[in-house]
Amino acid sequence: MVNRHFMVVNHNRYSRAAVRSIKTRGGIVALLGRGGAVVSGEAISGRLGISRVSVWKHIRKLQAAGYRIESTPKGYRLLDWPDIPYPWAIPGREGLVHHFSEVESTMEIAREMARTGCPAMTAVVADRQTGGRGRLRRPWVSEAGGLYFTVVTRPEVGPQQSGRANLAASVVLAQVLSDQYGIAARVKWPNDILAAGGKLAGLLSEMDAEADRVSFVNIGIGVNVNNVPPPVASGAVSIRQMLGEAVSRTELLAGFLDRFQARLAAGLDAELIGEWKAVNATLGRQVKVVTTRQQVEGTAVDVDENGALIVETPAGGRQTVFYGDCFHIGKGESAFSD
Ligand code: BTN
Repeated sequence: MVNRHFMVVNHNRYSRAAVRSIKTRGGIVALLGRGGAVVSGEAISGRLGISRVSVWKHIRKLQAAGYRIESTPKGYRLLDWPDIPYPWAIPGREGLVHHFSEVESTMEIAREMARTGCPAMTAVVADRQTGGRGRLRRPWVSEAGGLYFTVVTRPEVGPQQSGRANLAASVVLAQVLSDQYGIAARVKWPNDILAAGGKLAGLLSEMDAEADRVSFVNIGIGVNVNNVPPPVASGAVSIRQMLGEAVSRTELLAGFLDRFQARLAAGLDAELIGEWKAVNATLGRQVKVVTTRQQVEGTAVDVDENGALIVETPAGGRQTVFYGDCFHIGKGESAFSD
């Protein structure tokens, strides 16, 4: 693991001093603004209630983190800033976002944090993963430019309903892609995000339960943002490829986390299934669902109240599939076709 910036207590949360530093850094960036104006050290010190020396130290840290801040006789000027989801770059979440430049997998770090009691909505984000994991034990190529993160949720549901957190995440991601970038994203069961016939994002969840209560559901999300996904045959596509320009990973993450938190706060009740249906690309399609144990083919006719897929087989029976890889058959015959 490379480059964690602040002190973490008990492996699972920032120390109070770390949260103060993160907020100060965010405050400095906000005061400098993006318009290139010069802001005096005195003004920053007065507004944030810290010494001039402390301002200078934070400026040095920001510069080391990739912020191009010019120091002039009249003060500081922000000339350029990196698109890196540092905790201070996501206002309101200073104590919850843990950024790494490189990790094996954000899933492992988030699991350790969740097991040792981190708060809900803790997010572990990495610029690159050396051992990124996909569903069904597949690797998830995680090169620079993509957005890779795991968010810890603690929904008040039983283990049976834990899949709903996953569905909520895919619905919210599709909505954010549509609202922030105008991308007509749809969800292939259970939670691949498709757009323009390619896979734009994948979600992976891990659950831990005690007796009849869920302890945590960690949701790992990989979005092809500004990276060039592996060869065309994989059926992957990135936001940059679709829009013809790079977009901010930081803004995408911030938009997702805000909306996802609001969606979870609204409760994971049956309404969620309707929301999933409104953005899904699978119902009504001929599908082949492959799990580690079986293969089910037929028409995807519905999802049940926990998001399991109901497939009508050619023999006329109905089978409920709880997990697996879903292939849409026909009309282009591709694993990721919509
Ligand atoms: C899939 O479509 O197979 C799921 C892909 C999930 C990838 C994300 S990237 C962030 C998190 N860390 C991982 O190792 N995997 C998930």
